[in-house]
Amino acid sequence: MELIDNKYFIGELSFEGLVEKYGTPLYVYDTSSIDNQISLFKDAFKGLDLRINYACKANTNLSLLRYMNRQGLCLDTVSLQEVEMGLATGFGPGEIIFTPNCVNFEEIVQGVHKGVNINIENISNLKKFAQKYGGSVPVCIRLNPHIAAQATSDKVDWWHKQSKFGISIDQINEVKDIETQYNLNINGIHIHSSSVILNPEVFINGAKAVFEIAGQFENLEFIDFGGGIKVDVGDGNKAIDIISLGRGFKPVFEEFCKGYGRRLQIWFEPGRFLMMNAGTLIAKCVVLKRNGGTDFVGVDTGLNHLIRPMMYGAYHAVKNLSNPAGELKKYTVVGNICEIDNLAVDRDLSEVREGDLIAIENAGAYGYSMASNYNSRFRPAEILVHQNKDYLIRKRDTYEDLIRGQVDIRFD
Ligand code: LLP
Repeated sequence: MELIDNKYFIGELSFEGLVEKYGTPLYVYDTSSIDNQISLFKDAFKGLDLRINYACKANTNLSLLRYMNRQGLCLDTVSLQEVEMGLATGFGPGEIIFTPNCVNFEEIVQGVHKGVNINIENISNLKKFAQKYGGSVPVCIRLNPHIAAQATSDKVDWWHKQSKFGISIDQINEVKDIETQYNLNINGIHIHSSSVILNPEVFINGAKAVFEIAGQFENLEFIDFGGGIKVDVGDGNKAIDIISLGRGFKPVFEEFCKGYGRRLQIWFEPGRFLMMNAGTLIAKCVVLKRNGGTDFVGVDTGLNHLIRPMMYGAYHAVKNLSNPAGELKKYTVVGNICEIDNLAVDRDLSEVREGDLIAIENAGAYGYSMASNYNSRFRPAEILVHQNKDYLIRKRDTYEDLIRGQVDIRFD
């Protein structure tokens, strides 16, 4: 987002112009931001056999999936429906990894039918898989290596130690037994790095622990470090420096591959890294009110469109697009849902007037994909800006969307 002559632009398009054309609330995504993130990622791991699987749970708009595919990315999926969307937007089955969590084995069978890479994260399904397919279908194992994420912090955040995800490394012998008994073809090791990717040092130490486990499997083709790479959202918390992470990781990985006897692929599954800062939710201030000493900016969106602030206390930068030169004042930006619905609390915004456009930034990942019709409101439209052109990539809901699938029984 650029400020030129008191107006905010995305490339050559003004936000005002987009709103005139499409109305508010409006999700706006920018392919140039996605491209920058992809380049940064590739640059960080230059020289390695890198595969980037876009974690599409962050945003499954078909046009975005198609764009990711066009940019040479592969896809990380967690449901058969995401797999379906990937296949429909040009990804080959081999370019998709299917990492469902806590699912009925039947879903995995369907994944195998579709020919995608299968990632299994519990012993129960691994056994069923081994009994059904033996070594005929390669399988990746999702592990939970219990690595401390913030070794220096008081609040030691164990890497999924208590979580439901992955097969615990305590159970690695069971995995090995199943492998031997059924002649399994384990071609990948997966961990979702998540909060471990807070700083390069912790990540690299974690990776070393993973390599030790990986060394116990003979047929590996790749190691997948999952997603969770943080971006700068302007809350004062540092984002990961991916370049130094990649530079530090490379020799350690190469050393491992040398010992392993084969050059493995390195996979990641970034969602937020690619999409978060590529998207903005544009809303309109519809009501200004003062209550209990707080100045509230009431906007025509809310937790039904962006649930992250209320669900996780997530920080999203906000801007008043309509009055860039206005005097800074403290505001709390609230949505229109009938319960507490804070989008941004106690923020400095240039003076807001009713009718002003309010940008809620860092909204490209887990914004629309977690949106709902709560309060029976319409979900917003989505716009993709590519090379200074705007494309409507999802229409705003209509009343018909709200009632689709409902059965209106007329009781006697
Ligand atoms: N791979 C696996 C196996 C995952 O579980 C996830 C996210 C990702 C990749 C992508 O992670 P990312 O790079 O986007 O952080 N709704 C939450 C995020 C939940 C993420 C769950 N798993 C949010 O709004 O922040």
